[in-house]
Amino acid sequence: MQDFLKLQDLTSLDIHTLIDKGIELKRLRNAKVAHPILKNKNLGMIFSKSSTRTRVAFEIGMVELGGHAIFLSTNDIQLGRGESIADTARVLERYLDLIMIRTFKQSDVEELALHSSIPVINGLTDYCHPSQVIADLMTFKEYVGSYDGKKLCYIGDGNNVANSLIVGCIKTGIAISLACPAGHYPDTAIMDWAKANGAFKITEDKFDAAKDADAIYTDVWASMGQESEIENRKKIFKSYCVDEKLMKVAKKSSIVLHCLPAHKGEEIAEDTFELHAKEIFDEAENRLHAHKAIMVKLIEDSALD
Ligand code: CP
Ligand code: NVA
Repeated sequence: MQDFLKLQDLTSLDIHTLIDKGIELKRLRNAKVAHPILKNKNLGMIFSKSSTRTRVAFEIGMVELGGHAIFLSTNDIQLGRGESIADTARVLERYLDLIMIRTFKQSDVEELALHSSIPVINGLTDYCHPSQVIADLMTFKEYVGSYDGKKLCYIGDGNNVANSLIVGCIKTGIAISLACPAGHYPDTAIMDWAKANGAFKITEDKFDAAKDADAIYTDVWASMGQESEIENRKKIFKSYCVDEKLMKVAKKSSIVLHCLPAHKGEEIAEDTFELHAKEIFDEAENRLHAHKAIMVKLIEDSALD
């Protein structure tokens, strides 16, 4: 694994390795065993969008691995004033060992990786959110126990999170069904790939999608960058709320996952959120362990080159 740009680039083995590494790093942390695997390594974190979990999980993750992390807002670095992505890459590779970037265009992340000799990590684009999904699959394993023959259902906007979830589920053998309103389906190429490679279903009917699911997943109706569409989207997605009526058609043991931040009363009912808060905040915690795993694997693999 040279970079971590989208889950399509990873093998199933890579994904399982990251999940298992995340679980092992969590065990060490819980046992208060120091694990300075990346001693003296430096991570740069470029952010063009807001973040709570991704920023803190990568920064604290790197510190607990014995390294150092530096927050680089595009409002403050020359990239935001027009310095090219290629030149930014050629400068940062001289100082850093890893770069994480959260931005709008997937092509910008790919370009940064192309021009950088050090590994690049995608911390969310409009297209996908792969680091989130490693933590989600880890949480699924902890609660559901296995992947084969299990089912995850995603309700709502066919956005960046949905795109990565489809790839992550298919690559680990989880059946995935989605309910999204017409016109808001996930990426067409990802859906076509999923249909050809695993158990994939998409419908506009949330009750149909959620039937016998082991996990129900949702995300906001308006992602970062879509603020002007919020009111219109509230109308389009109105019937796509994850609530107790929907949970009745899922398995009795079904967990609820949400990448957060949540808009309670919109994509998830407040009572459903609180009934499943343990799973949702375990999922948020797992960002820390999963992101450590991503950084460790990238550094280990780059040493093999
Ligand atoms: N889920 C997620 O990526 O959270 P942040 O936007 O807070 O990083
Ligand atoms: N789909 C959301 C995810 C936030 C973590 C967004 O892109 O804003």
